[in-house]
Amino acid sequence: MEISGAHVLVVGATGGLGSALARALAADGARLSLSGRDATRLSALADELTASVLSSVSADLVDPSAPARIVDAAVAASPLDVVVFAAGVVAFGAVAELDDDTLDQLLLVNVIAPVRLLRAVAPQLGRGAVVVNLSAVVAETPLPGMAAYAASKAALTAFDRAAGRELRRAGVRVLDVRPPHTETGLASRPVAGISPRLGAGKSPDEVAARIVQALRDDEADLPSDAF
Ligand SMILES: NC(=O)c1ccc[n+]([C@@H]2O[C@H](COP(=O)([O-])OP(=O)(O)OC[C@H]3O[C@@H](n4cnc5c(N)ncnc54)[C@H](OP(=O)(O)O)[C@@H]3O)[C@@H](O)[C@H]2O)c1
Repeated sequence: MEISGAHVLVVGATGGLGSALARALAADGARLSLSGRDATRLSALADELTASVLSSVSADLVDPSAPARIVDAAVAASPLDVVVFAAGVVAFGAVAELDDDTLDQLLLVNVIAPVRLLRAVAPQLGRGAVVVNLSAVVAETPLPGMAAYAASKAALTAFDRAAGRELRRAGVRVLDVRPPHTETGLASRPVAGISPRLGAGKSPDEVAARIVQALRDDEADLPSDAF
């Protein structure tokens, strides 16, 4: 696909991977709609990329109405060609120690929000449009101490596969991306628990560049070993 001129909605644009993707896409000539939870960092990113930004909405994805509001603002600016869901939270710890708030946050942000987002945006997408969802390597290789996080990512990957098959007839591609550990700081701000030693991760710019390449080359899947 042609990135230059495409209108791309990046949800989770305030994050390490979301902001790297927004910058890489803007550098390739994309027009952007941005969303993030932190209004101050979102507005700083929108200012930095101002020549490329069509709309910007700060929203907490725990709110059931947030995904539709984000889509409405982007579509009001211009029809969408690509939607990137790069929001997410992680939690660590033994299953027996998982509390209900942690479970709710993991499933609401990592699974239910992207499902609501695709539900809201699907009727707006034309042939050639792409939906990019950031799952994770743990969907392929679930690790102890991250069971609920891994389950949330496996659920997203399953959703992407089924929704992708459903939308294929309409000419819409769903790209499930399963990056390996990346140095965004995500592991240092879990909603619960403490990160195990993870070793050195990929750079966010490198991971973002690989995702943009997959978009450009019309790739159908982006497993962890593609990075
Ligand atoms: N980093 C890795 O090693 C890695 C590896 C594989 C997959 N992933 C996945 O890639 C995605 C991005 O991760 P990252 O490393 O870029 O993490 P990050 O830097 O912590 O960014 C997370 C993003 O999610 C947003 N977010 C979290 N809770 C939210 C909520 N309730 N409502 C709205 N937005 C919310 C954050 O918004 P604010 O900052 O505005 O609060 C931020 O934009 C996640 O789904 C993650 O699971 C990451």
